[in-house]
Amino acid sequence: MKVLVTGGAGFIGSHVVDLLIQSGYEPIVVDNLMSGKRDNVPPNVRFIDVDISSPQLEDIFAKEKPDVVIHLAAQVDVAYSIQNPVEDATQNILGTIRLLTCCHKYNVKKFIFSSSCAVYGEKDDCSIKETFPILPQSFYGISKYTSEMYIQIFNILHNVPFTILRYANVYGPRQSSKGEGGVISIFFKKVLNGESPFIYGDGEQTRDFVYVKDVALANVLAIEKGTNEIFNIGCNSKTSINELYQMTTSLASLNIPSISMPVRKGDIRYSRLDNTKAINLLSWNPVYELQAGLNETLKYYKSS
Ligand SMILES: NC(=O)c1ccc[n+]([C@@H]2O[C@H](COP(=O)([O-])OP(=O)(O)OC[C@H]3O[C@@H](n4cnc5c(N)ncnc54)[C@H](O)[C@@H]3O)[C@@H](O)[C@H]2O)c1
Repeated sequence: MKVLVTGGAGFIGSHVVDLLIQSGYEPIVVDNLMSGKRDNVPPNVRFIDVDISSPQLEDIFAKEKPDVVIHLAAQVDVAYSIQNPVEDATQNILGTIRLLTCCHKYNVKKFIFSSSCAVYGEKDDCSIKETFPILPQSFYGISKYTSEMYIQIFNILHNVPFTILRYANVYGPRQSSKGEGGVISIFFKKVLNGESPFIYGDGEQTRDFVYVKDVALANVLAIEKGTNEIFNIGCNSKTSINELYQMTTSLASLNIPSISMPVRKGDIRYSRLDNTKAINLLSWNPVYELQAGLNETLKYYKSS
């Protein structure tokens, strides 16, 4: 089965590609290398260096006729979206609409979309279910939610089947130190270089960290399951940035002080995703505890 992966040269996308190969699928990567790397894609995988906004996209669908599209390509930086809302919307909303149009025209059997916990916005310190109110606090959150709406209406009007995955904070090997959820890669990279990382606000804000291989598994499971459903993909756990900092410095056996910075615009205080629906309907269960995932991630940063 042919699976077209947009953003397959990026952090999460490249792990999705690896798992697709291991699971017997035939991935094809479309990526403009805006933040991804050619080296992240195995040499035997078909790689097409194209922007999803380009008219060439339709030629790719006509030629390759993918059965499934896993759409990860995006502008992923919350702070950038606040500075550049037009560019964020162009990449994330118009890019998704262009892909959906091709999926409709070429009868794609499943459209799997990488959304984000950013759609929920500020909530109390609780476990967020998929049914909770949507209230994004950044243009990135708006562009992800608007894309979700287009996907659902393409399904209603044109019968393009979908699965939407709303990720918590993803971490692991190959993550860039820029962009959403990159705090673990930033901490490791800085600490290993002997530099002090920044902690914004009091550091007591909490995040739900999910390991990238678990996120890749959710995407591959969604090929066969969870049709026309929205799932939270997180560990239903909370770790404060201060706790995370302690864990990373102690794992790296380095004692480097952090630098306190003011709270950043668009940052939310608490984020923890209830994953019951994904466990029940996608048969997905996160395998990696934070400590185990951090160990693998540290090994990667030490060797890269
Ligand atoms: N990393 C996280 O914690 C997190 C959390 C929630 C959601 N997400 C979503 O997961 C997806 C993957 O994120 P990531 O962390 O792997 O980021 P990433 O930047 O590593 O990957 C994005 C990939 O898309 C490519 N790309 C960007 N714009 C493109 C375009 N117009 N045409 C073709 N390719 C393009 C980039 O070159 C890159 O390879 C994104 O949709 C992101 O919004 C990530």
